[in-house]
Amino acid sequence: AFVVTDNCIKCKYTDCVAVCPADAFYEGENFLAINPDDCIDCDLCPVECPAQAIYQEDEVPEGQKEFIELNAELSKIWPRITEVKTPPKDAEQWDGVPNKIKHLII
Ligand code: SF4
Ligand code: F3S
Repeated sequence: AFVVTDNCIKCKYTDCVAVCPADAFYEGENFLAINPDDCIDCDLCPVECPAQAIYQEDEVPEGQKEFIELNAELSKIWPRITEVKTPPKDAEQWDGVPNKIKHLII
């Protein structure tokens, strides 16, 4: 399955949901998570993400492996999202800021 990682936090562009044929994205306040049981590994979403936050599970960068479990858990408790939304006003300012996990709202 594919995994949403740190750089999505507070960017939340949502372009990813527009291309997902499996409706595998779930929405929190400032982050999206992919449900690994829904994801069919089509590989369409990583290139759509302006924040380059999505990786195949085997390619999640060192230091971000915890997002594999986090996507699985959060996607179980958050509602599904299937439509693109306006990103936060300050999304661009947060794009590329490291270790945003401390800002993750669960
Ligand atoms: Fe959806 Fe494909 Fe991305 Fe999986 S890899 S989350 S199926 S767009
Ligand atoms: Fe997040 Fe990128 Fe989707 S920033 S909401 S994974 S387009």
